[in-house]
Amino acid sequence: MNPPPDLDHLAGLYRWMEAATFGPFLSVCRAEFLLEMSHCRRALVLGDGDGRFTARLLRANPDIEIDAVDASPAMLGALVRRAGTHACRLQAHCADARLWQPPRPPYDLVVTHFFLDFLTLDEVLALAHTVRKVAAPSARWVVSEFAIPANRFGRFMARPIVSGLYLGFHWLSGLTVKTLPDHSAALNHAGFTLRTRRTRLAGLLSCELWLAA
Ligand SMILES: C[S@@+](CC[C@H](N)C(=O)[O-])C[C@H]1O[C@@H](n2cnc3c(N)ncnc32)[C@H](O)[C@@H]1O
Repeated sequence: MNPPPDLDHLAGLYRWMEAATFGPFLSVCRAEFLLEMSHCRRALVLGDGDGRFTARLLRANPDIEIDAVDASPAMLGALVRRAGTHACRLQAHCADARLWQPPRPPYDLVVTHFFLDFLTLDEVLALAHTVRKVAAPSARWVVSEFAIPANRFGRFMARPIVSGLYLGFHWLSGLTVKTLPDHSAALNHAGFTLRTRRTRLAGLLSCELWLAA
């Protein structure tokens, strides 16, 4: 297993890099299913980076408790700082999510925003099975990901953009994954069912709500 990519030096820059490339659209994806999370009580947030989504979820849902895991200490530090006064409902774990055992099951919410694309298909599959074991019956899993639509836009725009992103993250963080894993196949295999899928930027971004079947 390769070590996780090192995003420590990007922690302070990450949101500005995102704003310069995709404007508000990744944030729009992250917030897509916030309403559906309002009844959740215990969440597992994997690879949330600098914690903008975690802070938003803590503000939006005053009853939720969150276990957040990220391999980057600097990202995780930013995540805890952003949680501010809500940090008492947050446990932050600095670990490789591929090897980590979620400590406080059952979870009724799992969130992975632009994280599964840092893993290989085998790693997503193993992670999905781990998550299934700690998920409550009918738990929700909210997934945001890049996607390559099966059309001309996909071939001529989305594919080069996604390849460019992988190249950029390889240079910047040592990421060795080079292609999007088929996370849908992995989640299906682990016993999750797709409930809703919405897209942004002509299908380059997908926001999905999955249920533990
Ligand atoms: C592309 S960033 C995405 C951050 C955020 N979720 C977002 O929506 O922009 C990927 C995050 O996953 C973390 N990460 C990558 N591989 C990881 C692993 N194997 N275990 C834990 N965290 C990992 C990185 O440190 C980084 O913070």
